[in-house]
Amino acid sequence: MLRGNVVGLRARYEDDIPILRAGLYDDVAGSARADSRPWRPITPGSEDSRLVVDDKEEGRVPFSVVELAGGTLIGTATLWGIDNHNRSAHIGLGLLPASRGKGYGTAAVAVLCHYGFVVRGLHRLQIETVSDNTGMLRAAERNGFVREGVLRSAAWVMGEFLDEVLLGLLAEDWKPDPA
Ligand SMILES: CC(C)(COP(=O)(O)OP(=O)(O)OC[C@H]1O[C@@H](n2cnc3c(N)ncnc32)[C@H](O)[C@@H]1OP(=O)(O)O)[C@@H](O)C(=O)NCCC(=O)NCCS
Repeated sequence: MLRGNVVGLRARYEDDIPILRAGLYDDVAGSARADSRPWRPITPGSEDSRLVVDDKEEGRVPFSVVELAGGTLIGTATLWGIDNHNRSAHIGLGLLPASRGKGYGTAAVAVLCHYGFVVRGLHRLQIETVSDNTGMLRAAERNGFVREGVLRSAAWVMGEFLDEVLLGLLAEDWKPDPA
């Protein structure tokens, strides 16, 4: 388990899967904003990669996020698109609805940065999010990510194209404790 100040990142347990499915993936509108793939139902027990982890997949490391105080599952955090030549990767987060807006997102980004920069020796981390996702933008910026550009009309979300903001953080600019 990777421990931050208030959240921990651990492996995906089988018991996590129905909770994450109900809280994150069954919410079609929410899922459409957070995932660039089109929404589709996930059959219980299927090996769908959105929930079930393949430990042999080199380029993607999915974690379950837990609240350190009580060990409660609060969501998912993923380092994906890991490129060991350019030493870069992307960050993704999905917190269960009851756990949003309490600082856990900011804390989880901090632990993902520790994993990316310290454990994996990466040089650059990147986040893409729809431009009205204030919670994700702030959680990223509090950890030192800077806005590097806007990808105009890059995301098809429930009947409309939304702009995406691209944020990046370099290892030399990273400060372990979020501002
Ligand atoms: C986006 C997400 C990870 C942010 O995590 P969070 O725990 O809710 O955010 P935090 O509580 O750490 O808040 C970070 C900042 O954003 C602000 N914020 C959080 N939610 C907000 C909202 N819905 N509207 C406006 N501001 C918001 C907080 O006030 C805080 O601001 P501050 O830094 O000025 O104090 C989380 O809300 C989530 O999982 N949402 C659904 C899935 C998603 O959008 N994932 C990202 C896909 S790229």
